[in-house]
Amino acid sequence: EAAIKKKLPLVNQTILVTAGPTYEAIDPVRFIGNHSSGKMGFAIADQLAAMGADVILVAGPTSQSTKHKSIKRVDVTSAAEMLDACLLYYKDANACVMCAAVADYTPASVSPQKIKKKEGSLNIELKKTTDILKTLGEKKQTGQVLAGFALETENEEYNAAEKLKSKNLDFIVLNSLNDKGAGFKTDTNKITIIDSNLQKTTFGLKSKDEVAADICNKVAQLINEKN
Ligand code: CTP
Ligand code: CA
Repeated sequence: EAAIKKKLPLVNQTILVTAGPTYEAIDPVRFIGNHSSGKMGFAIADQLAAMGADVILVAGPTSQSTKHKSIKRVDVTSAAEMLDACLLYYKDANACVMCAAVADYTPASVSPQKIKKKEGSLNIELKKTTDILKTLGEKKQTGQVLAGFALETENEEYNAAEKLKSKNLDFIVLNSLNDKGAGFKTDTNKITIIDSNLQKTTFGLKSKDEVAADICNKVAQLINEKN
């Protein structure tokens, strides 16, 4: 078994993956969330494990489960909790694939009691969350590979390239909500990978497992190139 494992491309590589949505509490019974299913991130975690990596999967609230028993799963709820977990595990990781749909805003304060309905409208003040990926990009060490996703509905390639640069990424996976069969609840996805040379590779519509394989091959290639 040791001989077989040695041939796998990501043996002895520790890779941090995030997946799923975050939930931002409003009061004890309500939250702000999003439609992320976690499927793409879990498929990436499984694929990296199949390629021999030691995977740490930081997961927001999701009904997904991993196929590989070797994946270390860390469950979190909010963007703030996801940030803490990522900071903890990124230090010693060879690569990170940030797949989670992190909330951009969170309630400025959480009501300790259930908010009762009253006359008129309700306003909830929101404050910005920390950009986890950008924070990791600022801490990136020589040899580390950092990848993110960009979910866009307009000016897709331009916006994705801007995110790639501003977050100091090695590549970004562009997901366009304009592509049929791509997005949140589907089992398929259609992606374009943009790397730090702004080289673009567009893939066809595939199952999320096959898309995960394309993304993980890019991670393995860049780990090799950088080390
Ligand atoms: N991301 C993050 N922390 C946040 C927000 C986003 O780590 N607080 C990460 C996502 O996981 C993704 C990448 O940043 O890998 C891009 O997320 P996206 O929502 O497409 O872009 P934003 O930078 O948040 O900008 P906007 O939502 O305004 O397009
Ligand atoms: Ca966002």
